[in-house]
Amino acid sequence: MRVTIDLPLAVDRECPVPLAVQVADQLREAMRTGRLRAGERLPSTRALAALLRVSRTVATDAYQQLYAEGWLDGRHGSGTYVADEALPYEQPTEQPTEQPTERPAEKPAEARGSARREPPPPGTVDLRAGRPWVFGYDTAAWRRAWRSAGDLALNAFPDPYGHPELRELLADHLRRARAVPVGAGNVMVTRGTGNGLDLIAATLLGPGTRAGVEEPGWRAARRIFALRGAEVVPCPVDEQGVIVDALPDDLRVLYTTPAHQFPVGGRLPIPRREKLLAWARRTGAIVVEDDYDAEFRYDVAPLPALYGLDPGRVVLLGTLSKSLGPDVGLGWLVAPAGLLDAVAERRTHLADRTSGPVQRAVATLLERGDLDRHLRRMRLEYARRREAIVEVLGPYVRGDTAGLHVMVTLPADVVPGLVRRAGERGVLLDTAEPHHIGPPRVHGLVLGYGSASRADVRRGCAVIRELIPPAEA
Ligand SMILES: Cc1ncc(COP(=O)(O)O)c(C=O)c1O
Repeated sequence: MRVTIDLPLAVDRECPVPLAVQVADQLREAMRTGRLRAGERLPSTRALAALLRVSRTVATDAYQQLYAEGWLDGRHGSGTYVADEALPYEQPTEQPTEQPTERPAEKPAEARGSARREPPPPGTVDLRAGRPWVFGYDTAAWRRAWRSAGDLALNAFPDPYGHPELRELLADHLRRARAVPVGAGNVMVTRGTGNGLDLIAATLLGPGTRAGVEEPGWRAARRIFALRGAEVVPCPVDEQGVIVDALPDDLRVLYTTPAHQFPVGGRLPIPRREKLLAWARRTGAIVVEDDYDAEFRYDVAPLPALYGLDPGRVVLLGTLSKSLGPDVGLGWLVAPAGLLDAVAERRTHLADRTSGPVQRAVATLLERGDLDRHLRRMRLEYARRREAIVEVLGPYVRGDTAGLHVMVTLPADVVPGLVRRAGERGVLLDTAEPHHIGPPRVHGLVLGYGSASRADVRRGCAVIRELIPPAEA
């Protein structure tokens, strides 16, 4: 237990912000960025007051605010500590260096266009869907993986299927984790789900073809299909997933998320899976199974992937974007051998490939069990964050006990005002409406807990709870 007395705190008496708020803000920032770590002891209010030359009330008020927000912990009746759960894993001690440039600070994120999602300003609670916790990995394992990549000679002729040893490792991972009876010959290494989906679209779609996407569903899927010239057909989902009886017979491809429907959160039950595959066999459609967050289930084991039920009709897409982070740029595409060859040929024509060093680094993480260890830790952490949401917003929460987001259903007329007021209080939210192509059928928040600490998740949910009008409570 280290006593923290050397924090570079300062107060500005000329500033209109109350002194206690100034002190709380600086401490919060130090905890958020990892300068103060879980379990570290803070000075007593008396010592802090003396250090900053402020009254003891200022120090007490600052601590009380941080206790209320879940950042601090009192133990054995004496001493003030950074709460264990405020920083469950190592965070960087400085802000990421690759901050996007040209950022007009005064504009909300939505007004800056959708091409770039920027890190939120410090002090905000980011509960938008889609982002994982990128501070949780074991840095020693990560460096080791990159050293192994550095030992690799560069290849002048990258293999469009990917490195053979990584394909083997991924096939092994899929057999164990997803009950997919697959050999390396059916696996292609991609840069992620979006890349895999685009390769499928480039191979199977084009003008005159129709491609189904879930409604509501992942926006990137519909954009990719449209950019490859297909007519995009919205296919409605209910709380269990895609509604097979509503599927038209003339789809070339259907994109679906059976393990954890995005964004509603259902898990497609076995009878519906069988019905879906019967539909695909009857119509000749290829089912593209996006398995994006299947590693994260917190109650029961995940259902085996759809691919295993009919490897002739299904393409399985996986990614490290949720388990490690989208910055890694690595995923996999599993397909019947004939289709995989067609995709590889199209990939060569497109001069598209996955970085060799990235493949080597990921192979090392798999070989040494580092990825499995990371997943086990993150599963625990995400489960706790999800529980924190359910504790506060339980009656509104929909979706399986899985993944990195929940659906919080609310009446349509409540949503815009709630999102705006939460934004004014520093809580960033996503809604279900933009995930539709047609008129929205599902209303509410798509609440992500991937990129906010547990303390932030609690704070954000408390704000949301306060903003739900009493009539809906
Ligand atoms: C439904 C869904 N699938 C897949 C992904 C990941 O895509 P990629 O692997 O291209 O980063 C995301 C990321 O937000 C997603 O929401």
